[in-house]
Amino acid sequence: MTRLCALDEIPDGATRAFTVATADGPLDLFVLRRGALIAAYENTCPHLGTPLDWAPDRFLSEDASHIVCATHGARFRLEDGHCYFGPCAGEALRALPARLEDGAVVLAI
Ligand code: FES
Repeated sequence: MTRLCALDEIPDGATRAFTVATADGPLDLFVLRRGALIAAYENTCPHLGTPLDWAPDRFLSEDASHIVCATHGARFRLEDGHCYFGPCAGEALRALPARLEDGAVVLAI
């Protein structure tokens, strides 16, 4: 179990990037918060494997309705990382097991 941050450190409709140590080496990921939804995904686009963020800690469209890849603009659903538009349509981000525990976002890996 890895504590990432306090929930308050991710505003509603925002994202935050992290790098955590795993047995397989560093893992780059991000956490998004939108209403009651807390989700974490590996920071790797299924198209070419590049990072998704277009600025530090910025992974969402301007209206926070979807995740967007900075490289070619693929769009992914917030709730499950499914790509519904772009060169990797039909694929998905790798979801990671994040949850809330005592007001903190934790990763169960
Ligand atoms: S690398 Fe993400 S859409 Fe091409």
